[in-house]
Amino acid sequence: PAAAEPATAVTPDLAALERECRECRRCGLAEGRQTVVVSRGDPAARLMVIGEGPGAQEDASGRPFVGRAGQLLDQMLASVGLDSERDAYVCNVVKCRPPDNRRPTPQEIAACAPWLAAQIAAVDPPVVLLAGATALEGVLGIKGGISRLRGRWHPWQGRWVMPVFHPSYLLRNPSREKGSPKWLTWQDLQEVRRRLE
Ligand code: URA
Repeated sequence: PAAAEPATAVTPDLAALERECRECRRCGLAEGRQTVVVSRGDPAARLMVIGEGPGAQEDASGRPFVGRAGQLLDQMLASVGLDSERDAYVCNVVKCRPPDNRRPTPQEIAACAPWLAAQIAAVDPPVVLLAGATALEGVLGIKGGISRLRGRWHPWQGRWVMPVFHPSYLLRNPSREKGSPKWLTWQDLQEVRRRLE
């Protein structure tokens, strides 16, 4: 698993590594980006939320999960009593926007992995929420199976890791009926909330 490798290339000091990350040119995504989208939220939080990569609004603002998907994520976290700025450190598997919001390639994920590994090491969260299949792959190294693996705790590096559906997927599947992806995700987030208690 890419992010499971200890980060030797970057310093464990979060502020320094975030500064360094903003200068990154380790892959081709550096060409098309406006900003390097490193993080938002509280590095002292016990919850880390990891998404796929920046979209247009994230690329423009430099902040992860601020577009429609991010707003839904915030709402859903709020519905279980979690504030994404105060109770979480939020970041992505890749820090630069892929063209046309395509999924990052395995090479781009690998190039960015030392940054993510360093963020995880520096923030040291006991609980990690993986939003979507790319985060599941980028952190746990598991390809596919988000429908099967979501909602279950995965012990990893002394942390509790919970994969959930990506909020973009929930935007396309807005039903809240019992058993729907959104309903399931709400159950998952309640479970996360309980784990943080
Ligand atoms: N989707 C993601 O996975 N991350 C973001 O930051 C925004 C949208």
